[in-house]
Amino acid sequence: MNNRLVTFLPAGVKVEVEPGTDLLTAAGKANIEIKAPCGGDGTCGKCAVRIKSGNVKARRDSHLATRIAEKGFNLACQTLVQDEDLVVEIPKTSSMSKHQVLGENASVGAGVSDALSNYLLHVWQLKELLLEQQKSPLNGYPLNPLCRRVRLTLPVANLQDNRDDLNRLTMALKKEIKCTDIHVPLSIIQKLGEILRVDQFKVTVLLSEVSGKVEIIAVEPGHGHQPLYGIAVDIGTTTVVAYLLDLEKGRVIDTAGTHNRQARFGDDVISRIVYAVEEPDGLKTVHQSIIGTINTLIMDLLVKQRHIKETDIRVMMTAGNTTMAHLFLGINPKFIRLEPYIPTANFYPVVKAQELGLRVNPDALVFSYASVASYVGGDIVSGTLFTGMGNEDAPISLLIDIGTNGEMVLGAGDWLVTCSCSAGPAFEGSGILFGMRAMHGAIERMQIDPQTYEVAYTTINNGKAIGICGSGLIDCLAKLKSTGIIDRAGKFQTSLPTERMRIGETGPEFVLVWREDTDINRDIVICEADVKNLLRAKGAVFAGIRTLLNVVGFELESIENIYVAGGFGNYLNIPDAIAIGLLPDIPVEKYKYVGNTSAKGACMALLSQEAWQEANNLAGKLTYIELSVGNLFMDEFISSLFIPHTDLTLFPNVG
Ligand code: FES
Repeated sequence: MNNRLVTFLPAGVKVEVEPGTDLLTAAGKANIEIKAPCGGDGTCGKCAVRIKSGNVKARRDSHLATRIAEKGFNLACQTLVQDEDLVVEIPKTSSMSKHQVLGENASVGAGVSDALSNYLLHVWQLKELLLEQQKSPLNGYPLNPLCRRVRLTLPVANLQDNRDDLNRLTMALKKEIKCTDIHVPLSIIQKLGEILRVDQFKVTVLLSEVSGKVEIIAVEPGHGHQPLYGIAVDIGTTTVVAYLLDLEKGRVIDTAGTHNRQARFGDDVISRIVYAVEEPDGLKTVHQSIIGTINTLIMDLLVKQRHIKETDIRVMMTAGNTTMAHLFLGINPKFIRLEPYIPTANFYPVVKAQELGLRVNPDALVFSYASVASYVGGDIVSGTLFTGMGNEDAPISLLIDIGTNGEMVLGAGDWLVTCSCSAGPAFEGSGILFGMRAMHGAIERMQIDPQTYEVAYTTINNGKAIGICGSGLIDCLAKLKSTGIIDRAGKFQTSLPTERMRIGETGPEFVLVWREDTDINRDIVICEADVKNLLRAKGAVFAGIRTLLNVVGFELESIENIYVAGGFGNYLNIPDAIAIGLLPDIPVEKYKYVGNTSAKGACMALLSQEAWQEANNLAGKLTYIELSVGNLFMDEFISSLFIPHTDLTLFPNVG
């Protein structure tokens, strides 16, 4: 059958697809990202598009599709291309494209290439990440990068010294670096004879030395000054951030970030696993999607740093949750979601970049942070390394990473326990009517006047409001409760004397921003279902903390530091987070924002063999607590579904 042309507006990007293809898939083919939290199941309603011309067919009828159609939209995931060319408009509310996420003066990705047009991270976020990381990427560890250069002058082969070339090389190397366990890959041996003879047996060897084992990355003729760069990547379920590092100077040169292109297969790791396991070629597609995301970031970094070439990147380090690590390496993640939730691997092999199709030197070594369990991954190990919680003299601390899941580590030195609570991605805006990620136009702070119920708010980049992100949702929940708009159980008080309180399509709702003040031509509201979702998310996190404390028999007071990591960064309002019962009611001074610790730990490991060694020790040392075993977590969870909690003695300072 002949392909049909689909043109996506406002970008005007065209793509040819077979009739029967759904519009979400067509957009993916065109490198246009449409929001799809449910992974194309037709249940979230976030992928609404408008058909400007052409004939389409619905995959199936549903109540949601009908409601969307009444407003003149179609669900992209449920709308199939027929036998005509199409013109499809993607409204701002459904798009994750550049115009929505970059500021006026944004330079990140702007004008670089079409492939780079989907930047999610706001330019200020990237600048902050860069500045923060440049302060001290080593965080106390010695500079001893995972790739270094050794210059050798080998004895010239002659009739008296007729050792083979490989022997000649390894003998000289053993003498120079005092290491006997050296692995030279076949691809290097294949070219070795020629290389040694280019400059009279003078060569430069690039190698990686970890735990007494040496892997040769390259052997190059002469005693040159080959540039040594590396890339550290935090592979988040939502966002992917890459750092370009100068391995010799031990510093971060630049950073780039974007959303994880796997988002079109769903917002959370379960949707991604389902896609990988159940769709034809699903694993390959999801794997290539993250490789494509990382390659886009590499391209961006190299476009900005023109003096650095792809081939100058000799080593990479990645940190991500267990599912992301599996998908990055193309490992089947099927058993991560099936009881008893066993990942295929927790420790991952070092592979060559060319095996994964990464756009760096094909022989570059790619390291991946080890995981602890199916739902505690390398990102948490990396965070534990960064905070120094495993150090001998470390005080008792709690690390909390609130992202699409809530993961935490409690302990000090040799005893560290960890768990993951399925908080769900509500704080990343998913499952919330007007929820969104921290992008341009997202409401990030909010006040509600207790007398008039008028709302004051600030948005990211001062853009016109288009939705509300995690920090705004926490503020919002705290203010809804403190002004009496909702009760402790999250129920709306519908009789309040304000037109902002009304009954909407899904029940009671409160108008946060009137239509004329938004950039989406719709009132931005929060409804009772949103509040319930947020209560479940905050309840899961707090219940996780209480469960860990219970397991080790500690009280909250014994915790010296609470490290807050993850997407919220420095934007989480701690008093409000305490007020809603998300975080424990302990002195605010004990809280420390640590930002993206996954990325920070990845940089540390790349720059220091000692840090990498410690990261692997930590992965083996962290004791995983499975929350689905026994009733402890569930009891705590149920008690946490109130604001701030059923047991108010746990929150003595919350009014
Ligand atoms: Fe289409 Fe969720 S309804 S992606």
